[in-house]
Amino acid sequence: MSRITAAITAIGGYVPETRLTNYDLEKLVDTNDEWITSRTGIKERRILREPGKATSDMVVESVNELLRKRGISAMEIDLLIVATITPDLIFPSCANIACDKLGAKNAWSFDLAAACSGFLFALETGAKFIETGKHKKVVVCGFDKMSAIIDYTDRNTCIIFGDGGGAVLLEPNEEGYGVLDSILKTDGSGREFLHQKAGGSLKPPTHETVDAREHYVYQEGKTVFKFATTNMADVSTMIMEKNNLSSEDVTYLLAHQANKRIIDYTAEKMQLPPEKVLMNIQRYGNTTSGTIPLLFWDFEKQFKKGDNLILATFGGGFTWGSIYLKWAYDS
Ligand code: UT7
Repeated sequence: MSRITAAITAIGGYVPETRLTNYDLEKLVDTNDEWITSRTGIKERRILREPGKATSDMVVESVNELLRKRGISAMEIDLLIVATITPDLIFPSCANIACDKLGAKNAWSFDLAAACSGFLFALETGAKFIETGKHKKVVVCGFDKMSAIIDYTDRNTCIIFGDGGGAVLLEPNEEGYGVLDSILKTDGSGREFLHQKAGGSLKPPTHETVDAREHYVYQEGKTVFKFATTNMADVSTMIMEKNNLSSEDVTYLLAHQANKRIIDYTAEKMQLPPEKVLMNIQRYGNTTSGTIPLLFWDFEKQFKKGDNLILATFGGGFTWGSIYLKWAYDS
């Protein structure tokens, strides 16, 4: 019997309507469009502003799109995983809430937190449930409402992050398409450079933690940048070598959209020309767990059956990794 792999068979995505441009940020903090564009590649991000709306609402929009495209109902989903660090509540999980809103009554579900690497970690996890034969339809989502934990008086972080994400449907494939290999890594000693200081069990919320603005993202950008460039480039070239892929064999790189300079460095190490490097950072900024599924959503139309895609990421934890995926359909 041939090996069962997990192929992506449909995609959905969602970004909120409200745009936060570099010019808007000039009014909030001491920054300017020229600095943000040249240092990050970002021009604008989307912000989920409607009161009462949370990460699960964005998940629901994108999963409904994916179900519509595939012509199936929510009742057919076996498992739904949401990669996020901004769930609606600490518990129950965003995935549980999303399944309720979707009417996915036959699915079990859980959240996975690996910051910017969340989607790749969730994709690998979901793929395993397909590969064992246990499940036939697994939905993997990557979404964050970063505006919920961003300090719009801190120019080190507020210029980078935005809200949004996407979802993919995984189904069994016996022709060699889908998730073919992965290298995933964590190093928790990196937590001091990128974290949220309060709100967890280490420092439960108090008036003092709120006054000290400790419920917002804290990042030492320069240090994270250094680790991100080296590790993302290393792991991406490593997965190419492991699978005997030359730069000609790689159709596209889908890299975490944190900073255009990090992506350019990775692409250079992989010896990829610019047309093979997919980028939408200018429109959405860094949506944390959402960036790679948003690339799938934006660029789906140009994918062809058999395309070799390399996914690469780096984020808080530290967490990082790369996945090699063979695209399964002509879009
Ligand atoms: O997605 C999860 C992982 N995260 C990342 O991968 C993010 C990695 N880090 C980065 O992308 C970059 O480090 C940042 C975009 C956050 C910052 O860019 P940078 O080139 O590393 O800038 P920097 O922090 O070294 O600051 C350079 C200068 C400083 O001024 P001086 O000391 O040279 O006078 C900063 O004070 O730029 C100043 N600066 C700004 N100026 C205008 C810092 N932030 C801003 C700003 N606007 N928003």
